[in-house]
Amino acid sequence: MVSSQVALHAKFGGVVPNLAKREHQRNLVPLLLSAFQKAGLLNSKIKNQKSKLQSKIQNVEKILEREPELLKRFKKYVLPLSKPKIDAIAVTYGPGLAPALWVGINFVKALAHWWNVPLIPMNHMEGHLFSAFLQKEEKNSKFKILNSKFPALTLLASGGHTELILMKGCGKYKIIGETLDDAAGEAFDKAARLLGLGYPGGPAIAALAAKIQNAKFKSQNYNSKFKIRFPRPMLNSKDYNFSFSGLKTAVLYFLRDHPSIAKSKTGRAAVAKEFQDAVVEVLVAKTIRAAKACKVKTILLGGGVAANRLLREKLQDAVRENLPHVSCFMPQASLTGDNALMIALAAYVSGKKKTPTAVGAEANLRLG
Ligand code: KG4
Ligand code: ZN
Repeated sequence: MVSSQVALHAKFGGVVPNLAKREHQRNLVPLLLSAFQKAGLLNSKIKNQKSKLQSKIQNVEKILEREPELLKRFKKYVLPLSKPKIDAIAVTYGPGLAPALWVGINFVKALAHWWNVPLIPMNHMEGHLFSAFLQKEEKNSKFKILNSKFPALTLLASGGHTELILMKGCGKYKIIGETLDDAAGEAFDKAARLLGLGYPGGPAIAALAAKIQNAKFKSQNYNSKFKIRFPRPMLNSKDYNFSFSGLKTAVLYFLRDHPSIAKSKTGRAAVAKEFQDAVVEVLVAKTIRAAKACKVKTILLGGGVAANRLLREKLQDAVRENLPHVSCFMPQASLTGDNALMIALAAYVSGKKKTPTAVGAEANLRLG
């Protein structure tokens, strides 16, 4: 169960922090109640207990004093519920936009206090890292957790991060490569803007690039006609780092210098395809090289860009061809974007409980 704000932020061409904060305040309580209902955890209401719990209610008011709209809903819908059968509550405390992170943290602090359950603060990227371990079983559509052999290498590519993480076991992470400027998802979003496409740019570029495959577009053969060739940044560098901002600049200059291509839909589709090919080629090549060097047994993919079909296919093919004994796990499409299930799984595996008061937003939190 995911509540998405994409349509709202799309009008502004990206995530607006204060709008995200307002929407979280509105959506968290209804989302929690729907999730509990679906899980059969929504219990009958308690009556006449409020007076005994006055001091607890005051504490909840204090915890949510900066989220008045959320507090209103908390008091109306959460306070009357009896405690659901849960062992702990996990929450993302970073990396990310601090105003948005704080709403989730304070909500969970209030819940943990009210129900007297421990809180598990989780790194958002650790959630993406675990998303590939979740596979839906066909017979009952429940999720099962896959076993992984270590060491494993994860390629995390999202709107804010592009990282290669060496994982020696659960909780044992080392970032061995990362982007020096834009993240892969950010590059998709920026290139999409240059091509006049909406936000988020990743799916828009992928859809436009796919058009070049159809016969009518193919017959015009833009790539050989105009020799659209973008750089593959840092493809051959000895490290495992990435850089995508030059690629975005290459798109900018190409469109500026070829106005007739920029004006035609076929031309823009050819640009989108070449851009996507370039990003995917670098991501796959560096992942394979790092996997070989680190002698890993498993390769994992995670983050919003993991939804990209070309990336999934090329990575799968490259692993099969170069590292046939290595398993390659990818999250199913519904778990590539931000979701709470991956955070819950990461928390379940880590089991690191903390006292709620010690938790705060860390916008630049790093793994490892
Ligand atoms: O992980 P995510 O949902 O949010 C962050 O934590 O950043 O990732 C969002 C990013 C956006 O930049 C979006 O353009 C990109 O993931 N994305 C894609 C695709 N779907 C989403 N990039 C390429 N191809 C896609 N199909
Ligand atoms: Zn994310």
